[in-house]
Amino acid sequence: MPNTPQRDSWLQRNRKLLADNPRLFFQKLATWLKPMRADYRRKWNRGLRRWLIHYHTDILFDKVSWMGLEARKNVLDAWVYQQIICEVRPEILIEIGNAAGGSTLYLAHLLDLVGRGDVIAVDIDHSQFQARHPRIHTVTGDSAAPETLGRVKALARGRQGLVIHDGDHSREHVLADLRAYAEFVQVGGYFIVEDTIIDLFRAGDGLGSVNGPLKAVEEFVKEDPRFEVDAERENFVLTFNPRGYLKRVA
Ligand SMILES: C[S@@+](CC[C@H](N)C(=O)[O-])C[C@H]1O[C@@H](n2cnc3c(N)ncnc32)[C@H](O)[C@@H]1O
Repeated sequence: MPNTPQRDSWLQRNRKLLADNPRLFFQKLATWLKPMRADYRRKWNRGLRRWLIHYHTDILFDKVSWMGLEARKNVLDAWVYQQIICEVRPEILIEIGNAAGGSTLYLAHLLDLVGRGDVIAVDIDHSQFQARHPRIHTVTGDSAAPETLGRVKALARGRQGLVIHDGDHSREHVLADLRAYAEFVQVGGYFIVEDTIIDLFRAGDGLGSVNGPLKAVEEFVKEDPRFEVDAERENFVLTFNPRGYLKRVA
């Protein structure tokens, strides 16, 4: 058995502090005893579940933009995408579900920073899409339709990279897209399934639905051993993609 260093208990640490530095001890004691304002207490004492609903409905929802274009993104997840893109340096990045295009433009700008890659932006309806950038190539159609997939393949020209799914979130649709678009993910790359969080909340909670992308992920990783859930990508805690970062390992 390795020798694990013994840590002082809370009581021992504070006894020591009182003996060594009584001034700091009493300052610390005063902050413990200070009552927290009721509004702060309400805010800070929320559990993670209530925080996530609050974060989604009151903080993010329609308030996130990239270079003036609306992006329906959890900003902490967007930061994770930046880290993944920097590591993987994909030749192509397929974004399924683009809406106004703020997220698409963000991805194109990240590719500018790493100096390579194209974004293939797939959406059933590009009427609201406003992003313009030489790296962005749009494909309009149902992501699961064979014609859409055919046009994506033609644009990809054998290149692989990352896929980000933010389209139709129903279990059936996400599972079909996982199966169809997995071939575009390089080994070491990711298939990111967004909004898996909706399966963890109740319908009407502000985030909930019953049967959504998380179910599709669970089914997909069972049937395709090339992909594993990379939970390390959830380490900023407030993610909307729990178990949604699928790494291609083989
Ligand atoms: C949540 S929005 C995407 C938001 C965008 N990724 C962002 O972060 O700002 C979902 C988009 O998915 C598209 N969509 C829905 N069903 C689709 C399907 N079957 N195929 C392709 N796109 C679909 C919708 O038109 C919509 O623009």
